Amino acid sequence: MSAAPSLFTPGRIGGLELKNRILMAPMEKNLALPTGAVTQRYIDYCEARAAGGAALLLLESMYVHPAGQNHRHQLGIHDDDLIPGYRRLIEACHRHEARVGAELQFGGRQTSSLITGVQPRAPSPVPCTVLAGGDVPRAVTPAEIRELVEAFAEAARRAVLAGFDVVEIHGAHGYIVGQFLSPWANRRDDEYGGDFERRLRFPLEVVRAVRAAVGPGVPLLYRLTADEHVEGGLTLADSCRIAPRLEAAGVDLLDVSAGIYESAMWIAQPMEMAPGCLAPDAREIRRTVTIPVSVAGRITDGQVASRILERGDADFVTLGRALHADPELPRKIREGRESEIVACVACLTCNDLLGKNQPVLCLANTHTGREREYAIRRTGRPERIVVVGAGPAGLEVARLLARRGHAVTVFERQAEPGGQLLLNRPVPGRAELAGLAVSLAGAARRAGAELRFGVNATVASVLAEHPDTVVLATGAVPGIPPIAGIAKGPAVGPFEVIRRPAGRVRCALVVGGGMLGVATAHVLAERGAEVVVVEAGGDLAFELGLRPRWQFVADLRARKNVTVFVGTTVEELDADGALLRRAGQDIRLRGLDLVVPTRPMVPACALGEALRALDGGPAVFEVGDCREPRTAFDAVQEAAALGHRL
Ligand SMILES: Cc1cc2nc3c(=O)[nH]c(=O)nc-3n(C[C@H](O)[C@H](O)[C@H](O)COP(=O)(O)O)c2cc1C
Repeated sequence: MSAAPSLFTPGRIGGLELKNRILMAPMEKNLALPTGAVTQRYIDYCEARAAGGAALLLLESMYVHPAGQNHRHQLGIHDDDLIPGYRRLIEACHRHEARVGAELQFGGRQTSSLITGVQPRAPSPVPCTVLAGGDVPRAVTPAEIRELVEAFAEAARRAVLAGFDVVEIHGAHGYIVGQFLSPWANRRDDEYGGDFERRLRFPLEVVRAVRAAVGPGVPLLYRLTADEHVEGGLTLADSCRIAPRLEAAGVDLLDVSAGIYESAMWIAQPMEMAPGCLAPDAREIRRTVTIPVSVAGRITDGQVASRILERGDADFVTLGRALHADPELPRKIREGRESEIVACVACLTCNDLLGKNQPVLCLANTHTGREREYAIRRTGRPERIVVVGAGPAGLEVARLLARRGHAVTVFERQAEPGGQLLLNRPVPGRAELAGLAVSLAGAARRAGAELRFGVNATVASVLAEHPDTVVLATGAVPGIPPIAGIAKGPAVGPFEVIRRPAGRVRCALVVGGGMLGVATAHVLAERGAEVVVVEAGGDLAFELGLRPRWQFVADLRARKNVTVFVGTTVEELDADGALLRRAGQDIRLRGLDLVVPTRPMVPACALGEALRALDGGPAVFEVGDCREPRTAFDAVQEAAALGHRL
């Protein structure tokens, strides 16, 4: 008997039986060629998820026409030449008894002329300035609308020819189908806009045309935004009216999601949102139809998934980032090995990479998107290796070196693994990031690395292990910024402030609004202090990237006891005050009882220098912040590269 039996009961979509209730959510991966063609790297990604046990893989939004392309390395399905590549992908997944689906999409107002080379085409000239190019789109004519419907039908025909088991229409996330439905994006007053029925016309035409193209035997899925979460956009009540109409037009399953670009935190939810947050919406929609419903949204483990099925919120669960982080999640749940799951922490690094047109990798799993390149190759020359530091970089390099056959010992000064990840533990909504350390440490241990805590690594203690190689992952520590008077004021480092609740703080100045500064400000504000954050640059937590910082920063700015100054420098400090300067204007702060300088971060590299100075000492390498202070993502990527090389 497997764990989570409800998840592993076969399910049915139209005439297709699926071996379990787990669908892989469509996720753009930026792994396609600029022509839209699938690559071997893409196939490897999918085959790993098929082998891991998901029943149906929905690849990603595939543009049905080049004018609707969203990203440079997105899959296309606009050309017959693309079919052979998909055949190879589908064959690879079928070998593992997984079914494969194509999601048909056209970007409309949510794309950019920088990608397509043409002015975006949309229902109305409503530009999208969030995450898209901000071009004013051209309103499509009725003749162009017919061409668009035909492009969806042609794409569906190609999908069937390639052998896809199901076809999904991307009606969610504010792309063209959703744009026609939405009063936010559709300002027309013709037969395709104006009232509910006319806004519904285009989606229904697409559904009927795609249904006709695929024939009655191929299940037709429709991705639906339950709620657009923008003022004047579609609401859950609207979606409950739309759902039965889609069913009547020939849809076999509704795949419930949420949001549009302007409310993108609802498309791919940050860690501040609860696991399974869209399930209540799915339940309401499910009440209005007789076809099965699936739902996405931070479904992170077997318990969350089973609860959704058992409560009757949905018939299937759609997992995006959870399978991105761990392709084997279904198998691990079924075999009762949930503690081994590499958990997605909803850091949104993947989303940020998507926006930058870079391969969509993963903070939690360096193997993701590099399945072939990073296949484990056993070493021919096993060594004794000491890794110093059990932060994310140290844990990742230790795991890989141990998996490859080296004898690895990790020294960590703190009593537990995680390094700077642990600083997130007291930040409201961010504790999951600290949980990543548990997952990384478990993987390192299972690989055979020995982890020792509470050990202060010195030259002597390292040499006592007789290592051939030492990898330093000692991280970075906050330094003292060159501000006049800093020695006179009540300055305390951010690590101490976050780790140990100081005595009562009434008014604190956080110097530097990077990711550490924002975390420090959250913690101090949560403890009741009035907090002033001063950042010389133009934005807070800038190094995290747009999507990962979005909610983190918005939540800070929303706090009543936090004042943020960007584009501002701290010129001088005294016993209880500070002089700030913004655009040539002086601002004086008084009554400060705490100053927390959060920049610069200084690499902790003394041990490396001492080891390198030894005659005939071990080989020494550095990874992560002790080479150069950066994000955890950069650190683990660098660690993985070294872990596969040594
Ligand atoms: C990097 C990234 C790319 C995505 N690309 C698509 C896509 O191509 N089509 C789509 O319908 N949804 C896309 N989504 C949304 C996901 O399918 C999913 O609904 C969302 O991530 C929430 O589910 P999750 O918490 O299981 O990831 C994407 C999300 C992310 C993070």
